[in-house]
Amino acid sequence: MLTVEGLRVAYGDIEVVHGLDLEVAAGEAVALIGSNGAGKTAALRAVAGLEPGCSGRVRLAGEEITGLPAHALARRGLVYVPAERRLFGAMTVRENLVLGAHPERPDRDRLARVVELFPRLAERRSQPAGTLSGGEQQMVAVGRALMRRPRLLLLDEPSTGLAPVLVEQVYAAFARLREAEALTVLVAEQQVPAALQLADRAYVLEDGRIQLTGTADELTDDPRVRRAYLGLT
Ligand SMILES: Nc1ncnc2c1ncn2[C@@H]1O[C@H](COP(=O)(O)OP(=O)(O)OP(=O)(O)O)[C@@H](O)[C@H]1O
Ligand SMILES: [Mg+2]
Repeated sequence: MLTVEGLRVAYGDIEVVHGLDLEVAAGEAVALIGSNGAGKTAALRAVAGLEPGCSGRVRLAGEEITGLPAHALARRGLVYVPAERRLFGAMTVRENLVLGAHPERPDRDRLARVVELFPRLAERRSQPAGTLSGGEQQMVAVGRALMRRPRLLLLDEPSTGLAPVLVEQVYAAFARLREAEALTVLVAEQQVPAALQLADRAYVLEDGRIQLTGTADELTDDPRVRRAYLGLT
């Protein structure tokens, strides 16, 4: 579904992603893990068409999408959910979700389906999004992305600002989603246990370079990952 080759991202004279290669197969969930400043957001934003100065090659389902702007990518089914969520706080949950749908193709069945996937949102559909808890807001952000029926969902640190129990709830919702709809996901995360539980495979990004890659089970057992990201010895 996604092939990234030699992706480089620079801000001014400073390169922060140094030739990233990664792949996500259709139906797969892949995690990009790494600590603060590793380059996760820069890499996802570049894939999503939000870093015009990047270089390298990106293909979506075999089609070259390098250099296409974000709106053109969204039309092709690549949808990015930023860590900051960017909801319209004064608008209701329902209104925020509807805004995710394609403007020329309103989709009532889809709204019912998305609300069904996140039962908490059903209870709160008339509440202003700005008054939701962090975890609920994350569900709205993902729900809004799902309204587009994405082929590939890019999630940037969905755990941002959430207490551990909410991180679990949000990731449990992702796991349900994967079961319900053969969704393809690339998730950047520093909450490594949650990400490795969801993902089939992962890449470890440090200082803009992939240092390790493997199945989620392999990385969970890897002494370097256990020491650096799981706080275990
Ligand atoms: N707009 C920008 N201008 C200049 N430098 C930037 C910009 N955005 C990011 N950077 C730098 O690029 C590097 C990678 O940042 P990035 O946001 O991709 O890290 P990250 O892995 O997402 O970290 P975090 O887990 O904290 O979100 C950092 O050194 C950061 O300071
Ligand atoms: Mg980030």
